[in-house]
Amino acid sequence: MSSFAPLGSGHAPGKIIFFGEHAVVYGRPAIAVPLPQMLARAIVYRDQHCLIEATDLNRTINVAAADHDDPFACSARLVCSELGEPLPPWRIVVHSDIPIASGLGSGAAITAAIIRAMLHAFGATLSLMRLSELVYEVEKLHHGTPSGIDNTVVVYGQPLWFVRGQPPEPFNVGAPLHLLIADTGVSSPTRVTVATVRKGWQADRTAYETVFSSIGELVHSARREIETGNTLALGRLMDENQKALAELDVSSSELERLVTAARSSGALGAKLSGGGRGGNMIALVEHPDRASVAKALTKAGAKAVLATTLHAKD
Ligand code: PMV
Repeated sequence: MSSFAPLGSGHAPGKIIFFGEHAVVYGRPAIAVPLPQMLARAIVYRDQHCLIEATDLNRTINVAAADHDDPFACSARLVCSELGEPLPPWRIVVHSDIPIASGLGSGAAITAAIIRAMLHAFGATLSLMRLSELVYEVEKLHHGTPSGIDNTVVVYGQPLWFVRGQPPEPFNVGAPLHLLIADTGVSSPTRVTVATVRKGWQADRTAYETVFSSIGELVHSARREIETGNTLALGRLMDENQKALAELDVSSSELERLVTAARSSGALGAKLSGGGRGGNMIALVEHPDRASVAKALTKAGAKAVLATTLHAKD
């Protein structure tokens, strides 16, 4: 039995990739934003062993006995080795509102929440960069060859310009951006779509590099339009990005149906977000059109539609 007084807690948000997924694995820039409405949370209680209770999965992991590549156990072990501490007698209770395998960063957010809660309980702190590096170690277990964008945005918790291997750059949002996020309901592990793109790239590097470079260029344009608040131009760039992602063969009939429904009901632009082949798509809308586009998305088969706004800084 764990005692009731928590020793520490931590949380991290979900995220969406606004522009540049997949090409970011090959060195091009991408733009990601946090989703503060969806959180992963972890709370640490005293116990007899080091346990992680993943309430959503109905699983309790004994860290000392877990496999080397168990992501939950790995998160706890990383904190202890970073601080030079033995495994503590704690029960770390984890809960997340972020759907798994749908491109919303659930794995990275859960890891970040566990690490933050343990640091809190140890009375220790780490820089955002170091925390992101630890989360990246666990992301490798989920994804194989992640670019690092997910761990970075869930740890920094703000809109970011991201290039693999470089420090992330927060940037300004010039005007509020209203986004709808619609779930196809199709679970699609990022590991699989990343491997599909890699196979295509290995078979025809020239063609794939050309698509990656055109995505990279439109991500540069997207940053300018976000900073100046030019939503019309931004919507068009989302449509172009979607076209390029379809060329990489990571779209799907469900995603295309939602993208088309969003555009024809008044969205300024729409694209898949994250690994693709399922998971979520995003649509940029004018504020008054939010309800009608959301309705069209539901009619076209979306299992859930969430609204979020990126606020402009004064
Ligand atoms: O975790 P997801 O599904 O949001 O996708 C991550 C984005 C990819 O570019 C497809 C992979 C990566 O590691 O950057």
